[in-house]
Formats: sequence, structure tokens, C-alpha cells
Amino acid sequence: MARRAARRTTEVIIRGVKRSDVPALHEIMSSPNVIWGTTAMPCTSELAVEHALTAENRHWFIAASRNDDRSVGYLFLDWGQGRWRRIASLVMAVHDNSAGQGIGRKLLETAIHVGFQYLDLQRIELEVYVDNPSAMHLYQKVGFVHEGTKRRNAIREGIHVDGHMMAILKPLDEQSKRRGP
Ligand SMILES: CC(C)(COP(=O)(O)OP(=O)(O)OC[C@H]1O[C@@H](n2cnc3c(N)ncnc32)[C@H](O)[C@@H]1OP(=O)(O)O)[C@@H](O)C(=O)NCCC(=O)NCCS
Repeated sequence: MARRAARRTTEVIIRGVKRSDVPALHEIMSSPNVIWGTTAMPCTSELAVEHALTAENRHWFIAASRNDDRSVGYLFLDWGQGRWRRIASLVMAVHDNSAGQGIGRKLLETAIHVGFQYLDLQRIELEVYVDNPSAMHLYQKVGFVHEGTKRRNAIREGIHVDGHMMAILKPLDEQSKRRGP
């Protein structure tokens, strides 16, 4: 039996977003699994993607191919105002052709580090569809904890799908232990 060709893996770096990423991000947000797994709208416009790059209280992380610097995945953190200033929500996706190669993990680990150590966040939260095991597996692996389920969380192909809420908290350091979070 012919040996299955080893799956080509994409070597990536995690960097900030560039204006030139818009076409590649639009392609990722238009790919079937990303529309299925997130709240990306089918036939989304490139202008909407461009606009999303400049949203306030948002920090982008881009997984770019070492080969040609093309974006193959993204993650952004949106933090709140006022008393929610140290709470952020997370949205992420990897291009269908680059999924399952550890890119999602790299994006998550970088975002958690920068979120807690530079954005001074206390909590990072997300919502994942109840029928998305690979995403849930990944989030659990990097430390996200299940906190509850939102019924009819978002519509997909005419069906309102439930979503799990998950979150990771900044580990309490010695100082915080003494002072309290
Ligand atoms: C979910 C997603 C971001 C993960 O990124 P990725 O680069 O594919 O993830 P990784 O390769 O780093 O890790 C995937 C993990 O899930 C595991 N996995 C894959 N399919 C799985 C399944 N059906 N059940 C359980 N675990 C699964 C992989 O084995 C891997 O775990 P491992 O490192 O222990 O082997 C990406 O697949 C994606 O963008 N999907 C479409 C959009 C989406 O669902 N976004 C998240 C919305 S909350």
C-alpha cells in the first residue's frame, strides 16, 4: 500500500497585522470551515475586513507563513470599557488548508502571553459551538475552562446552534495572592 504523503506543514511566525493582510484575511474568513466554526458572514466584503483591522480596544495576532509572509490564521482580543477593561473576548481562525498543523496553538499561546503580560488582562473568554470538538480540545489544552452553555447562541445554515462559554484567568502571582486579584 502506497505510503500516504506526509502532510505539508506551514512554518509560521506570529506577528502583528499589516494593511497588506486584508486579501488573505478575507480568504480565511470566506473559507467554509471558518464560516462554519465562527460567526463570519458568508460573502463578507473585503472592506468589512479592512474596517475590522482598525477597531478600537482590539489587538490582532497574525500567523504568517515563513515562506511568503502570507497570513494563514488570525486571532484578535477585544477588551472592554470601564470596569471591563481587563476582560477580553477572543476570536480566532486558521485557513482550512492550514488547519491541524499546530498553528492555532501558536496563535493562542502568543495571545494569552501578550494578553496577560502586556495588555494586563485578568480574564480571556470565548464562545465555541457545541459541535466544534477540535476547537474545544485546543482551548482546553491551553488552559481554558468550560463555564456554561448559551442556548441558541448563533445562527448557522438556518439553525440556532448552542455555544459553550470558556475562559482562562491570569494566574495569581505572589503579589496578587497577598493583595487579592
Ligand atoms: C479551531 C482552529 C482555530 C484550530 O486551529 P488549528 O491550527 O487547526 O489547531 P491546532 O492544529 O493547533 O490544534 C488542533 C487540535 O485539535 C485536535 N483535533 C482536531 N480534530 C479534532 C476532533 N475532531 N476532536 C478533538 N480534537 C481534535 C488536534 O489533534 C489538535 O490537538 P493536538 O495538538 O493535541 O493534536 C481551526 O481548526 C479553525 O480555524 N477552524 C475553523 C474555524 C473555527 O472553528 N474557529 C474557532 C471558533 S471558536
